[in-house]
Amino acid sequence: MSAIVIDELVKDYGEIRALDQVSFAVPEGAVLGLLGPNGSGKTTALSILATLSRPSGGRATVGGFDVVDDPARVRELISLTGQYASLDESLTARENLTMFGRLTGLSRRGARQRIGEVARDFGLEEFIDRRIGTLSGGMRRRVDIACALVTRPQVLFLDEPTTGLDPRSRQSVWETVATLRIQGITVLLTTQYLEEADRLADQIVMLDHGHVVAEGTSETLKARAGSAVCEINLQESADLYRARTALAGLALVEDGESTATTPHPRLGVAAPDGMATVAQVIARLQDHSIEVFDIGLRRPSLDEVFFRLTGTDPESADSVTAAGDIGPAAS
Ligand SMILES: Nc1ncnc2c1ncn2[C@@H]1O[C@H](COP(=O)(O)OP(=O)(O)OP(=O)(O)O)[C@@H](O)[C@H]1O
Ligand SMILES: [Mg+2]
Repeated sequence: MSAIVIDELVKDYGEIRALDQVSFAVPEGAVLGLLGPNGSGKTTALSILATLSRPSGGRATVGGFDVVDDPARVRELISLTGQYASLDESLTARENLTMFGRLTGLSRRGARQRIGEVARDFGLEEFIDRRIGTLSGGMRRRVDIACALVTRPQVLFLDEPTTGLDPRSRQSVWETVATLRIQGITVLLTTQYLEEADRLADQIVMLDHGHVVAEGTSETLKARAGSAVCEINLQESADLYRARTALAGLALVEDGESTATTPHPRLGVAAPDGMATVAQVIARLQDHSIEVFDIGLRRPSLDEVFFRLTGTDPESADSVTAAGDIGPAAS
């Protein structure tokens, strides 16, 4: 069964159509990554699902309850961690958690017990008695998420849980999300980071200007960006011409000229057969006694998928210059 269903959802802010007939569903217990650049409508979608904002058209249900007709029932099932943390800096993590627990109706004893569980499950014990003001960004984010978990939600909305965090803090938030998955909580998280969606999400929905431009698993989306490429870096530039000859008949997608900045010229061969193509390339180069510096199979990244579908790079919203990153492989 689907924990969340969105059906042709529309949201207008005056002239601005923030969501335009958006439809998707999140199965119970799944992690769905809503991916899109700034202003694509991610927070708007979460606000509607969290009953904080009313849709202009279409429908949305959470746990089978309509967000417009049954907002109270929906709120019993959900928790939301906003794009900007909402902790009291002057209180400790435990005090913040207690406040959340008490506000949502737990008894003093119930709150204490639940906070103990959450702290253990999500690794907060080390710093739970420190003031928020003294915690790192990653620690704060984890406390913020933990606050949303005190009420044992069935569905958790995380709006850009790792934006602005350094790689290590991001990693710790990723571990938190992994724990949520183990606990069977349905998670809808938004992100601008393709890598994050790739790592965390069972299903990805790509949004652009309020439209769903693609959805599927990371693997199916990548498959849409075309086949993998066997990348070869030659030891010697002087071998470039001979290498082209050795690889004649294979589909060359990078020809060494464009990577003049590296000492090892690079060739790319479309590799629809994956490692079998790599093996074939190695054999041919060996037959011609051409020395290889490095060789590997590069699968298309989600960045390429997004770029192909929208012409923009989600991690730098409107940078059409990202075309250079894809190179001839995309053509
Ligand atoms: N309260 C509002 N009033 C008017 N316009 C709004 C409001 N909230 C959002 N918008 C507009 O709706 C569109 C979608 O905004 P939204 O905040 O949902 O994007 P987002 O994908 O969450 O972006 P970001 O990655 O920057 O958080 C934008 O054009 C934004 O300017
Ligand atoms: Mg947002």
